[in-house]
Amino acid sequence: MKFRSKLMLSYVLLVVLITAVFYLFFELSLQKTFVEESRAGLMNQAALVDLLVEKEGQLSQPLAVKIGSAVKARVTLIAADGRVVGDSDISREHVDELQNHLDRPEVQAALKDGSGSAVRSSVTLRRDMLYVAHSVDASGASGVVRLALPLDNLARATRSMHSLLGIVALLTVVAAVMLSYLLSNVTSRPLREIAAAAGRIGRGELGVSIPVTTHDEVGELAGVLNDMSGRIDGQMKRLSREKQRLDTILRGMGEGVMVASSDGVISLVNPAFGPLFGIQGNIEGNSLIEISRHPDLLSAFNDLRVTGGELVREITIPPGTTLLTHWVPLRVDGDDQGVVAVFHDISDMKRVENMRRDFVANVSHELRTPVTVIKGYADTLLNGVLDADPRRSKQFVQVIQQHTERLSVLINDILTLSRLESKETALDQEVIDSWSAVATACMLVGEHADLKNITLVNEIHPEVHHVMADHGRLEQVVVNLLENAVKYTPEGGTVRVSSEDQGEFIRFAVSDTGIGISSGDMSRIFERFYRVDQARSREQGGTGLGLAIVKHIVQLHGGEVSVSSEPGRGSVFSFTLRKAPHAPKM
Ligand SMILES: Nc1ncnc2c1ncn2[C@@H]1O[C@H](COP(=O)(O)OP(=O)(O)OP(=O)(O)O)[C@@H](O)[C@H]1O
Ligand SMILES: [Mg+2]
Repeated sequence: MKFRSKLMLSYVLLVVLITAVFYLFFELSLQKTFVEESRAGLMNQAALVDLLVEKEGQLSQPLAVKIGSAVKARVTLIAADGRVVGDSDISREHVDELQNHLDRPEVQAALKDGSGSAVRSSVTLRRDMLYVAHSVDASGASGVVRLALPLDNLARATRSMHSLLGIVALLTVVAAVMLSYLLSNVTSRPLREIAAAAGRIGRGELGVSIPVTTHDEVGELAGVLNDMSGRIDGQMKRLSREKQRLDTILRGMGEGVMVASSDGVISLVNPAFGPLFGIQGNIEGNSLIEISRHPDLLSAFNDLRVTGGELVREITIPPGTTLLTHWVPLRVDGDDQGVVAVFHDISDMKRVENMRRDFVANVSHELRTPVTVIKGYADTLLNGVLDADPRRSKQFVQVIQQHTERLSVLINDILTLSRLESKETALDQEVIDSWSAVATACMLVGEHADLKNITLVNEIHPEVHHVMADHGRLEQVVVNLLENAVKYTPEGGTVRVSSEDQGEFIRFAVSDTGIGISSGDMSRIFERFYRVDQARSREQGGTGLGLAIVKHIVQLHGGEVSVSSEPGRGSVFSFTLRKAPHAPKM
């Protein structure tokens, strides 16, 4: 029940109660008061009649009728022996037939005390009557004067009073209902406003303020609620700021973060998490098994659930992703809420680690052959050949020199590569006429080409293609590519260097009519030490570092390398370089 209704009900109940008490009081006292009033009135009239009788000097029927018409009551004149002498309501002939009235209680009382009264049913008239008797003691006329009023008259008057009272009570109640409605409305309005505002605060609405209009308890309550609302606002803002901060941190993290409940249902992930497992759709709300069928992930989760401590584990996801995962149980106020896991993609680190291992293995392998050869020949020389056979000794020294040369080339290449990789060497970039750079490179490999009867063609326009590059490095790129082209092209072939304007860049291409490269090898030839045919390349003095150096130099210049080839028909190696900003016009 609403407060307003309660208030209204209590007002109405109060009024009804008071009205009912008044009504009952009047109801009870009315009858009595009426009878008493009538009795007193009759008594006065009886006294007056007494005087009249004394003046008249006798009790008679005519006197009774005369008095009866004056007092509007039944008048009975009774002799001292109880005989009725006159009665205003009965004709003269019948008066003598009336009973002796000496036994009537009012008559008895009047004779004894001078006056008396009684309420009873009249034997003569058969109605409830109020009797008042007064003794008369005149000379020759002693007896009792009795006045009587029918009680039903009184009852009628009482009834009309009752209905009047009833109407008044009813009107009072109706007025009370209306007034109490208005009053309860007015009284409860501030409380209703406060309740509504409290409801809005409860629903999380911010900035709710209740106007404080009074200085009573209701006003105090409004003030307290306003304080509370302000505090809640502050707390909410603080929480929201905190959440935004956390969201930003999570969003900005390169590592994937995942929170899962104790039954393995994911409740939160950051944006970096999905790509680690190649998931694009919604992740939150799914279970671990649904998002990744990877057994390591589940076993890490289960192990953590069993041990309850922290867990660091490396998980490999095919084809080539390695994740370092860090699992921590999530406890809030000592309650087990699941787990938090951080996924760090260490694939690159792993790749670099592998590369370094491979590199060391490759370098030692490459070094071993020349060193073994040099040591072997030197030992043989020292063991007597030097003195015994000068001709063979010379051959041996030549072999030693060849391999020393090879060692020196190898070491130079490795040094060059390591310098390029460590970015230690700053490029000395300048505007370069690419035609003359290519011409110089052609000249350097010209001797070798001539030996194999290979034609070198420089198709670069002498005046158009100026690029920004480090002169020495660019020459090294072209020489390496030309050397390869000559090396892997059979006698009588052709090697061309051409260029193409691509807007911001110029693409240079070195094409040959050589043995070509299979598509499987093509993706790997830029790797260090990678050679299609190990034996053949080594025989030619190759180390497999030439293309790796080319790739590094071009990338340092901001360009890119590519290769296309058809086995048996030839290959095209191309690279791009940035155009010089103000290349001289033709
Ligand atoms: N023009 C080409 N035609 C066919 N195969 C080639 C060509 N250029 C390179 N290759 C292949 O790519 C491999 C790697 O070349 P790279 O220049 O890196 O090493 P290399 O020539 O063997 O030795 P280096 O250049 O260090 O003396 C070669 O061993 C060869 O198998
Ligand atoms: Mg080479």
